[in-house]
Amino acid sequence: MTLGNDFNRLKKLVDDHILDYLPEIDPKSGTLYEAMKYSLLAGGKRFRPVLCLAAYEMATAGKGDLVFALPYACAIEYIQTYSLIHDDLPAMDNDDYRRGKLTNHKVFGEDIAILAGDGLLSAAYEVMAKDMLLYLDEQDMLKRKVKACFEIAKGTGCRGMVAGQVADVENEGKNCSADMLHFIDDNKTAAFIKSSVMCGFYLGGADKIMKENGRTFGECLGVAFQICDDILDVVGDPKQRGKKTGGDAELGKSTYPAVYGLDESYRQAGELLSKARESMIIYGEDAVVLNDILSYVQGSIRRDD
Ligand code: IPE
Ligand code: IPE
Ligand code: MG
Ligand code: MG
Ligand code: MG
Repeated sequence: MTLGNDFNRLKKLVDDHILDYLPEIDPKSGTLYEAMKYSLLAGGKRFRPVLCLAAYEMATAGKGDLVFALPYACAIEYIQTYSLIHDDLPAMDNDDYRRGKLTNHKVFGEDIAILAGDGLLSAAYEVMAKDMLLYLDEQDMLKRKVKACFEIAKGTGCRGMVAGQVADVENEGKNCSADMLHFIDDNKTAAFIKSSVMCGFYLGGADKIMKENGRTFGECLGVAFQICDDILDVVGDPKQRGKKTGGDAELGKSTYPAVYGLDESYRQAGELLSKARESMIIYGEDAVVLNDILSYVQGSIRRDD
């Protein structure tokens, strides 16, 4: 399950610059910086920022300078990291390991972990707003950036990821309906993944058809991603995942395996990944990174039988 050269080129760009866009923090609140840095450098896969950069490259036919999309890609990873710090808190999923290391609250305490999440979320919008301030006199570019930022806000906020997280915790221990399960996954996971792709397409000035295909791709990949995460919580290897397995069943989480059973979960994940792949067929090699991510997700749940 390896990712190709183009994925790695974009991931390296994110890894190399992930701290560059953080606001300068007064040493008097230095713990905040240490806690934010700890989770940012803990080894995330960087799928969401890479999706943004890859979509930007597609929209600009490889002619756009990635440096223009990088602040947004890093902002996306700040939001991803904040969401995981908060997701792991005792009041939520109560996890001790993340990205192969102790969770943020295990190292810094719950108070600092909550604040490190808050700091990362605010930093994301500061980075994007700071970039927009440079384009106040360039109407077209500014419009693209505002739309890109709006996509991220919508996908991760109270009609996206946060809404899904609320439904996730409120449905613990209940036999939730398929309709509620879909609401949870569409929002807590797919909305952000879709908005990461759309952020890149807006920044790069993608045409209408590319944006439509991007939405289909993002929605299908996003739901498939969460189904695979749920499957791996049942059958996966904690070492490989960098986080524990079995937690969903312990907490009575509403997951695809819980609602549909494992076999049907594999089938639905496969179907969604195929649909995502179809949406990118017309772009051929230009969609190499997006297709690579689909193959990785598919490979993560490959069964030997
Ligand atoms: C974890 O996302 C949260 C889910 C939506 C399942 P990732 O699996 O992308 O986590 P990192 O960023 O690589 O740690
Ligand atoms: C996704 O769900 C979490 C977020 C949207 C942050 P999970 O709770 O299943 O994610 P993991 O398994 O802890 O990474
Ligand atoms: Mg959770
Ligand atoms: Mg969790
Ligand atoms: Mg999970």
